[in-house]
Amino acid sequence: MTVRVGFLGAGNIATYHSKSLRASGADMTWSAVFDTDPDRADRFAAATGARVSSSAADVIAHSDAIYVCTWTSEHEHLVELAAGAGKAVFCEKPLGVDYDSAQRVVAAVESGGVVNQVGLVLRRSPVFHLLKHVSLHPDAGQLQTVIFRDDQFLPIQGRYASTWRADVDKAGAGVLIEHSIHDIDLLEWMYGPITSVSATARYVHEIEGIEDSVIVSAVFESGLHATLTSIWHDMIDRVSNRHVEVFGTKLWARLTGEWFGEVAWNNGDETTTVSGADLLELATEVSPGAGENPDGAFIEAVSNNRPASPPLRTALRAHLVVDACYRSIAGGGSLITIET
Ligand SMILES: NC(=O)c1ccc[n+]([C@@H]2O[C@H](COP(=O)([O-])OP(=O)(O)OC[C@H]3O[C@@H](n4cnc5c(N)ncnc54)[C@H](O)[C@@H]3O)[C@@H](O)[C@H]2O)c1
Repeated sequence: MTVRVGFLGAGNIATYHSKSLRASGADMTWSAVFDTDPDRADRFAAATGARVSSSAADVIAHSDAIYVCTWTSEHEHLVELAAGAGKAVFCEKPLGVDYDSAQRVVAAVESGGVVNQVGLVLRRSPVFHLLKHVSLHPDAGQLQTVIFRDDQFLPIQGRYASTWRADVDKAGAGVLIEHSIHDIDLLEWMYGPITSVSATARYVHEIEGIEDSVIVSAVFESGLHATLTSIWHDMIDRVSNRHVEVFGTKLWARLTGEWFGEVAWNNGDETTTVSGADLLELATEVSPGAGENPDGAFIEAVSNNRPASPPLRTALRAHLVVDACYRSIAGGGSLITIET
């Protein structure tokens, strides 16, 4: 079945998905696009061939699958509209501005019984697949600690230039929910459930409710502990970047980048370093699914009416952990226990 794809929101991430859909070669057509900013809808339509629509309801009526790519506060009611009409949903992360909203978003797709996928695209990133393989390998010995650092420029400037990320009602909060929800998800995807967190935040840019540097200390069910440091700064030339170091009793490993980057590790005598095409080849060899196009996978799932991955429910768990971090921040870094 050729899937008719509609877009709600035609900004930065919608453009990314449109390019990724084209690159995937998926069996799809562009149905319609709606953005409250008509210029953005026009530009998206010119680039894709989608029809510009005057309402979300019209896009939904003429599509089999809906991409919800608006700012975060709009996700809830748009997902409810799309899922209520029985349409497949790809919803960007975060699902909602807080855990309660995220729960309602998940309830909407599950009660609608629709194919659904969340934009936790780094779950297909080759660097993270390889790091996971290396750090869970028996040669690593017992894992001891993980140091995760994530930094990018404050995205109300530069390539993003989005004003909504400085509006707590639209974004929910700052760098932790908006950006590092990916990192929390990746940490649990690699190392299992987090059972407690303690976190502190700073508001260096003095934007109300928008924290721009966060440190989370997390303990996992396995006993492993980790720190996550997440920063929004003003260095426009520094693109979003992730650095992870893992120490085990017999392992040192380091990841830099987000998709290809570089992974280096030593679990014996020598340090191995891989990047680029070699990294992709190795990652796909040791971990099927590494490097897979998330948009192509979504369209295939819709076409075959089978579950897509990761479903929205996956992000709910990351929201729960993020919510615990914010409760810890509010309590001055208090220890918060999380149910697994
Ligand atoms: N998965 C990722 O790595 C990733 C990366 C960037 C952004 N995101 C998420 O994607 C979402 C959008 O981010 P962005 O960077 O594309 O922002 P953006 O500002 O570039 O685009 C958002 C668009 O939504 C439109 N919009 C707002 N309300 C709307 C409504 N009710 N109906 C239709 N259009 C509406 C705005 O006019 C704007 O054009 C956010 O939730 C963000 O957190 C995810």
